[in-house]
Amino acid sequence: METKGKLYIETYGCQMNFSDTQIVNSIMTDHHFETTPHIEDADLIFINTCSIRDNAEKRVRARLQEFKRYKKQKPGLVIGVLGCMAERLKEQLIEQEKMVDVIVGPDAYRDLPRLLDVAETGQKAINVMLSADETYADISPVRLDGNGVAAFISIMRGCENFCSYCVVPFTRGRERSRDPKTIVDEAAGLFNEGFREITLLGQNVNSYKDDNGNGFPGLLAQVAAISPELRVRFATSHPKDLSDELLQTMAAWPNICRSIHLPVQSGSDRILKLMNRKYTREWYINRIQAIKKYLPECALSTDIISGFSSETEEDHQQTLELMRYVGYDYAYMFKYSERPNTLAAKKHKDDVAEEVKSRRLKEIIDLQQKLSLKSNKQDIGKTCEVLIENESKKSKNELSGRNSQNKVVVFPKGNQQPGEYVQVKITACTPATLRGIIVEA
Ligand code: 5AD
Ligand code: SF4
Repeated sequence: METKGKLYIETYGCQMNFSDTQIVNSIMTDHHFETTPHIEDADLIFINTCSIRDNAEKRVRARLQEFKRYKKQKPGLVIGVLGCMAERLKEQLIEQEKMVDVIVGPDAYRDLPRLLDVAETGQKAINVMLSADETYADISPVRLDGNGVAAFISIMRGCENFCSYCVVPFTRGRERSRDPKTIVDEAAGLFNEGFREITLLGQNVNSYKDDNGNGFPGLLAQVAAISPELRVRFATSHPKDLSDELLQTMAAWPNICRSIHLPVQSGSDRILKLMNRKYTREWYINRIQAIKKYLPECALSTDIISGFSSETEEDHQQTLELMRYVGYDYAYMFKYSERPNTLAAKKHKDDVAEEVKSRRLKEIIDLQQKLSLKSNKQDIGKTCEVLIENESKKSKNELSGRNSQNKVVVFPKGNQQPGEYVQVKITACTPATLRGIIVEA
């Protein structure tokens, strides 16, 4: 069958968005569109967008301006905005950005072929309906750009935690879990294709529940049981729901990676309450202690927001102190960005001055650099198992992979290939990378 046109997709935001792009690829190729990595060749340009912070939206808007150029060269070119910004702004976005033809929210991707038919007649097309049950469970993601070694599988959609700063519950809707059989089948299929690492994705994987009431630990064990040669990771965990059962399951399966991403956001109880995080500093520390008890080798990473509404110097110091106590291996750190219509936008004034937010963020980043370096230095002299992913970005004579703790490890190439496991003795490090040499197992 003849192709209906060439599609180019650009993706911004979280892993969930990248995973959604693979669903869109699949829907579009099933409907006889071809994908292209070259924007100049495209008849359709999709941009899968993020609303998490104001600068994420600004980046997308700047990119849309650049797309105008392609539209001038090819008047029939269709531009579609997908994802969280589509959902948040709806029709408004077409009024503001005239080059946009199609607007599609995260739960409406099955409707894309119809929306494109509408757009072909010259009308603007929009579907931003959220769904209580759409999980795209039957759609096999088309993974175009990847290394063929590590893949993401989304196991649930949406979020109902309503952290007061966060736009996600509004853009991604109700929380729903995907049928476990389709998840395990997809993972097994990927393993048979040669993939060796699966990351199970959800906004809060700890609240995964299938129709029979089985939770996340059971699902994780089923995926881990596919093969000892398959590594399993997951993200993200909400501290309020991190159970001992999950930690026991991890301890029982060596191929479940020793790394937990546990966003803390703030070290101050007062701020945690305003953020509606539903846990205290004490609860969080108790979860960290449980991780250390069951999984002494486990790496810890986190997300931190600086300068949330009313944050004082003392609140900020409590965040720094908690970071030191936990000794995070890695962190994603952000300045608070007020999002329209969130609980915080309605109730908690964005009253920390920009310079104060920036200075606190810098202190958080500087501390994390030190903690990462300290953690990496402790690995020098140790030998760890590394799953090779690709050639190192800096040198063709080096390979790069990650260890179970999710640390990037770079080492000189022998005759090994991506997808193989090797034992690497660590000899040097920076805050971001471990270096080493291959040793016999
Ligand atoms: N401003 C700044 N950071 C935010 N995050 C979520 N919403 C906001 C916001 N409004 C951060 C949180 C979350 C991560 C994905 O993004 O730390 O864990
Ligand atoms: Fe992902 Fe949140 Fe950004 Fe949406 S707003 S793309 S859920 S990070």
